[in-house]
Amino acid sequence: MTPLTTEHIVDTFTDFFRERGHQDIGGSSLLPPPGDPVLFTTSGMHPLTPYLEGRPHPLGRRLVNTQRCLRTTDLDEVGDSTHLTVFEMLGSWSLGDYGGPRSLRWGYELLHEGFGIPRERLHVTVFGGDGQVGLDQESLDTWRDIGLPVELTGGDENWWSNGPTGPCGPDSEIFVWTGPDGTPPQGTPTTDPRWVEVWNHVMMRYRRHEEGGRLSTLRQQNVDTGMGLERVVSVLQGVDSVYETDLFEPWTRLVPELWGVEDESGLRLVCDHLRSLIVVHGEGVRPSNTGRGYVPRRLIRRTLTTLWRDDPDRTLGDLPRELVEHTESHFRLSTDGHGPVIDMLREEEDRFRRLLERGRKVLSRYGGRELTDIDYGYLHDTHGLPRELVQGVLGVG
Ligand code: SER
Repeated sequence: MTPLTTEHIVDTFTDFFRERGHQDIGGSSLLPPPGDPVLFTTSGMHPLTPYLEGRPHPLGRRLVNTQRCLRTTDLDEVGDSTHLTVFEMLGSWSLGDYGGPRSLRWGYELLHEGFGIPRERLHVTVFGGDGQVGLDQESLDTWRDIGLPVELTGGDENWWSNGPTGPCGPDSEIFVWTGPDGTPPQGTPTTDPRWVEVWNHVMMRYRRHEEGGRLSTLRQQNVDTGMGLERVVSVLQGVDSVYETDLFEPWTRLVPELWGVEDESGLRLVCDHLRSLIVVHGEGVRPSNTGRGYVPRRLIRRTLTTLWRDDPDRTLGDLPRELVEHTESHFRLSTDGHGPVIDMLREEEDRFRRLLERGRKVLSRYGGRELTDIDYGYLHDTHGLPRELVQGVLGVG
């Protein structure tokens, strides 16, 4: 069977919900509106927060889209097979319209009939209740009726919120078995990592307040679902990592040709960070030492730290035009193309080289002795040399 392409997967998801009365609202920018304390959009529901809290949405109560997101909380995980800095979420919403059971039934229908995942490869989890909110009986009954195996979880395992305060609720996650063909599924989502979560359905019925984490019931009972695009594409294309999907095809072909990065996690990091940078640049964010701009600066420095480990002559100025154009087109960014991205990368690279030269001089004064936390604090605060840099590129441990 020919694997489904990313484009086909996105269209199937969107059409499925459009046929069920959802309006495609398109993706919003990575930059949340002014006043939002968060630097970048971190989930599909993030731009919809006011509508989940009750403001009427101009396109109605049933919505669908693909939203680009950026998370820096997992930067150290980038290089494994699933974590990405910029990623996309397929999402559907009921803003006070239908309830959780209908959303779960549609979830099953799309995965099983739309994407052809055999039912024996599916498993779900349901919120088992905590001190504040009881077991999600409705979801449990729905899955039992559909006939999928259910695992009840405790703690915050099946509770979703986008931050310490705001809309939140119990969720039900759908997992796909990714063990080799012919091996019957084993264990449960919490006991066997070959169960991979693809789709989260959040019964967004509560709001968490600042005072002592108190919960109140939202006046509008919503459903918010999100499916990580790269993750579901890797599952449907039957590959072990997001980097092996068609989404990364030009990256994983051209980067090794250009720089010959040999170790797999280094190669993945370079592809992820440069691709994310192109998106952030396309959103108008320029490198700086604080706030939003520190994210691209950090991504560039981490990329160079990896590239220069084997060969300090590698330069980001060589980044192929095809990679910039492919990424800008995939994320539908209207930009001036390859030139401005390369100029920005060259400028940052020069700045970083100068910082490292200064760093080497400063470090030579320590005569190779082991550095203490106080030394690291001084190097960081006085000379702008973060610990990861001193230990990484400057090679002091
Ligand atoms: N907000 C939930 C998530 O990001 C579902 O969309 O997982």
